[in-house]
Amino acid sequence: MIELKTIGEIDAMAAAGRVVSAVHHAVRSQAAVGTSLLELDHLARTVIGDAGASSSFLGYHPSFGATPYPGVICTSVNGVMLHGLPTSYRLRDGDLLSVDCGAHVDGWHADAAVSFVVGHPHPQDLDLIDATERMLAAGIDAAQPGARMGDIGHAMSRVGRAGGYGIQTDFGGHGIGRAMHEEPFVPNEGRPGRGLRLVPGLVIAIEPSLMAGGQDEYRFDDDGWSIRSADDSRGAHVEHTVAITEEGPRILTAS
Ligand code: MF3
Ligand code: CO
Repeated sequence: MIELKTIGEIDAMAAAGRVVSAVHHAVRSQAAVGTSLLELDHLARTVIGDAGASSSFLGYHPSFGATPYPGVICTSVNGVMLHGLPTSYRLRDGDLLSVDCGAHVDGWHADAAVSFVVGHPHPQDLDLIDATERMLAAGIDAAQPGARMGDIGHAMSRVGRAGGYGIQTDFGGHGIGRAMHEEPFVPNEGRPGRGLRLVPGLVIAIEPSLMAGGQDEYRFDDDGWSIRSADDSRGAHVEHTVAITEEGPRILTAS
């Protein structure tokens, strides 16, 4: 069942979104060569706790994860594009890091992800991140009242395919609200004019991820969580929580 949200409920979700944005700001400023992923997770815990919020991820156990989730952020490095676990791995110069975070405030969740390079970037990694960000922007732009779900996926996949990148099509976005993962599924690829009609009050997380090698195939690491491109080419992932309103899409996790 899809639960539409009132304007007041969307405002409440934006409060959770501000916490997520604060985590991203803090983690990004501390992610340097030599910083461990666990240190970033601890920092995120502090930001979430200081805000009086709780983590949407910690202990979460979806069917696609091997264990209850052990952290408050996903830290996906290089060939891993989604759900990388915060481990003792220390970041190296040129690593491409994707950070995903969810926060829960007054019963409402928000979920967002960013990708960036630590230290000196390879130009092709900046291109990959730029394409993923343009893909998200195109998806958000398509999230207009009266449009359809397929319009979002179509707008996004056009950007990714134009760059010659592989697209993560099995894992995409989702409805979000009182639960982090609600209906409907928000595919990263779609056909224009098809699928669910987008109406004011629908709140979705839009989360494209791209793979530099140009193939859509991926596999799980032995940790049962990390999703890696099959050719181990670099991946990037970005996400915003977005409400469809009468006035158009409203980003709830903007900084
Ligand atoms: N944004 C990610 C998603 O919706 C968050 C995953 S949370 C985790 O897939 F706990 F499952 F990792
Ligand atoms: Co999400």
